[in-house]
Amino acid sequence: MPSFPVTAVSADASIDAIQRRRTFAIISHPDAGKTTLTEKLLLFGGAIQLAGTVKARKSSRHATSDWMAIEKSRGISVASSVMQFEYDAHVINLLDTPGHQDFSEDTYRVLTAVDSALMVIDGGNGVETQTVKLLEVCRLRDTPIITFMNKFDRESRDPMELLDEVESVLGIQCAPVTWPIGMGKCFRGVYHLLRDEVLVFAAGGETREQAVERIAGIDNPELDRRFPAEMPELREQVKLLRGASHPFTLEDFLSGQQTPVFFGSAINNFGVRELLSALIDWAPSPRPRPTTGRTVRPEEEAFSGFVFKIQANMDPQHRDRVAFLRVCSGRFQRGMKIKHLRLGRDVQVHNPITFLAQERELVEEAFAGDIIGLHNHGSIQIGDSFSQGEVLQFTGIPYFAPELFRRVRLRNPLKTKQLQKGLQQLAEEGATQVFKPLQGGDMILGAVGVLQFDVVAERLKSEYAVDAMFDPVAVQAARWVQCDDLKMLAEFTRKQEEHLAEDAGNRLAYLAPSRVNLDLIMERWPQVAFHATREHA
Ligand code: G4P
Repeated sequence: MPSFPVTAVSADASIDAIQRRRTFAIISHPDAGKTTLTEKLLLFGGAIQLAGTVKARKSSRHATSDWMAIEKSRGISVASSVMQFEYDAHVINLLDTPGHQDFSEDTYRVLTAVDSALMVIDGGNGVETQTVKLLEVCRLRDTPIITFMNKFDRESRDPMELLDEVESVLGIQCAPVTWPIGMGKCFRGVYHLLRDEVLVFAAGGETREQAVERIAGIDNPELDRRFPAEMPELREQVKLLRGASHPFTLEDFLSGQQTPVFFGSAINNFGVRELLSALIDWAPSPRPRPTTGRTVRPEEEAFSGFVFKIQANMDPQHRDRVAFLRVCSGRFQRGMKIKHLRLGRDVQVHNPITFLAQERELVEEAFAGDIIGLHNHGSIQIGDSFSQGEVLQFTGIPYFAPELFRRVRLRNPLKTKQLQKGLQQLAEEGATQVFKPLQGGDMILGAVGVLQFDVVAERLKSEYAVDAMFDPVAVQAARWVQCDDLKMLAEFTRKQEEHLAEDAGNRLAYLAPSRVNLDLIMERWPQVAFHATREHA
């Protein structure tokens, strides 16, 4: 089957709308400055008037109780889940990712819905663990990455050393685009290697109305007058960089092999506009997306998209759940009928939501790259695809094998039905994974981070009136089981029944009591595949 069949292509106006779109996420280790940078990007985009807005909404990374309190005051997480704003005649969709590593699974799935990513690194700390993991996920899809070395208004690591670290630890080539002049108390600004100009640092930094001061030409005597102590070293470094570092090439950036690197200070709004320019000038507009059958191009006329996230209780007045759908092709219009492909059912979307920084608004139309919110009464799952009829299943939306397990115990056995319903829905949302062992009537929960259990317990109580306790259980690892030889699968199931369970989507999984046991079983059953990740069925 050809990967690009002849399909009707949108009108010029739609193609223009697609080319003007940029959909990206910020990846970073907690505390590197993601929230601060988000706020500044929104400020430049005119989406918020005051700094501090995003910050105030930030969900706590430190305490469960805080996290829940914030989750409870709902409406919050939604607005910061997707932020759309305009900048320089472009429409920017910024997708937020949870800061806490316990919710990293959510983050991975958000990354499947973006076309590029902005990696923020704390200049004082260099590459940190969470960044390594997130970048790995981006590399799986060759997502283009722009790098921002933050906090240069503080004492930072040597910039050359930082580049080396990114290259060796993250395995991506660095192409410095700006270069810092000093750091900490002596931070004077950055030199733009491509534009041959110095951007002068001022605490408080650039505002939307007032541009940063620029001095053109590295040999400009004005620079010697202003920064006599720093200029000789800068010229040396720039000479070295021009000789030894990789020059920026769009092709390498777009293929995910190279990252343009910028230096600055998010809190001082310094270097932020350069990031926006890079996003607009270099980052890709919505890209083609693979499905099980063919690749879908954004400019195709027929609408298609997939759900990468489900969020519950965004509005405390209505117990609603919103499915976040990334538009992959066509033009979405309010009131349109689209097909829910897993269920084979048409749904008419009367009141889709769009996300304009802080407010939920009804969306009239959306194009490839945009995210729309669909009200979900339990029928939509993460990974579901929608189209105008063609059977397409978008691929690459992962579930990861959980690493932590608990047995669920009810305080009131009469509530079994509510418990099952609650857990089923929470599993469909991706809040937790649920396994029903083939033997016995227990339910086992799986999570990637321990906070997920707390959230599930809290939500079972508040949304389903179920008081459940989670006990330790002798499970150390889970693997989804697959075997094309049905006879062999039946034999495996019979012999290993005590360790087998079905997940919320009725897929068979092996729950290993220990890592050693898992290795042994995998060795003993070479024809059975044990998957640590699975995609939507
Ligand atoms: P995160 O979302 O990645 O977790 O980071 P966040 O933006 O919350 O920033 C973490 C801390 O780093 C914050 O300080 C923030 O003010 C600070 N920060 C961010 N960018 C810069 C920068 O360019 N320079 C300096 N010096 N600091 C920066 P905090 O003390 O945790 O919070 P707050 O009390 O300042 O609000």
